[in-house]
Amino acid sequence: MAKFNRKILITGGAGYIGQNLTNYFLEKKYKICVVDNLSTSKPINKNIKNKINFFKFDLANKDRTKIFFRDKSFDLIIHLAAFSGVEQFNKDILKSFNNNILATRNLVNFGFRNKNTKLIFASSAAVYGKVSSEKITENRNCQPANYYGLSKLACENIINNSLKNNYIILRYFNVVGSIINFKINKKINSLMDIIEKKIKQKRYKININGSKLDTNDGTPERDFIHIKDLCKIHENAYKYLEKNKKKITLNCGSGIKYSVLNVVKAFEKNIKNKFKVSYRVTNTDETKTICANINLLKNLLKINIEKKKINDLVKDYL
Ligand SMILES: NC(=O)c1ccc[n+]([C@@H]2O[C@H](COP(=O)([O-])OP(=O)(O)OC[C@H]3O[C@@H](n4cnc5c(N)ncnc54)[C@H](O)[C@@H]3O)[C@@H](O)[C@H]2O)c1
Repeated sequence: MAKFNRKILITGGAGYIGQNLTNYFLEKKYKICVVDNLSTSKPINKNIKNKINFFKFDLANKDRTKIFFRDKSFDLIIHLAAFSGVEQFNKDILKSFNNNILATRNLVNFGFRNKNTKLIFASSAAVYGKVSSEKITENRNCQPANYYGLSKLACENIINNSLKNNYIILRYFNVVGSIINFKINKKINSLMDIIEKKIKQKRYKININGSKLDTNDGTPERDFIHIKDLCKIHENAYKYLEKNKKKITLNCGSGIKYSVLNVVKAFEKNIKNKFKVSYRVTNTDETKTICANINLLKNLLKINIEKKKINDLVKDYL
């Protein structure tokens, strides 16, 4: 089938990753449908909305989801809809947990009556829990250290137990940057969002969760993947599924780690201003260092992840 006839459903498509992915696949001439209840996002940008089919409803609502899929079928479903971000999740754990589980269960129950429909699920590195310093492979034991990670692991289990094949679970690490020329108001407070906000407000003070960790500079280390690479990964994942009737779980990171202090310094360099940094330990559960082993991702999806310098990663935020 010609590419421009392929139909992709993006759940949670009004969110940060969703709008970037929608824009990416629109440029590649796919037909895009978005389902989002706008619970953690603002209405979708009008330049994008004009080019897609948009449905506003809650995927956790069983009857509504059933009705939606009664007369629709898709070549690919990218399932992003979820409550995420540990802080946001912890505000109402039960509500957040239910949201993620029910949305996934309903989607799996009603969205795959056409056996050829493929699925890409947005899971998270949070499923691994506290980890040691070596790079994590996908077969590592999952022991989530927070309820958000637990909800993602439960969703993975729902998918693994319900669908035979035709899906890829992508465990995203920290997704950063943008490929669209407008700002998406995010509720999630990722490290770079927080620093960006502080710069806008001219509040040059930041606290880092500890300075005496067993890492290169004593501060926590993270693996950041640029959204441009993430979009390409989804495209290649779909192409892979078209050729192979498989079920796979893949790490979705860059394989490079930068410390929180590295990130702060990169911003300082770009804005030519200094932050007053404190090192109070506010979260003893935080993982000190986490980085993806991406050999499987690169080999299976035939993809090269750009080795971006930290300075380039922060540029989209300025
Ligand atoms: N941003 C990251 O760094 C990151 C890292 C790991 C995993 N993830 C996962 O990727 C996905 C997308 O993340 P994001 O950063 O774009 O988050 P986001 O909050 O910007 O987007 C999520 C979208 O899902 C929608 N949604 C939530 N529950 C819904 C429901 N029940 N029915 C319909 N729509 C619903 C929200 O309104 C929102 O637009 C999430 O599943 C998240 O857990 C993101």
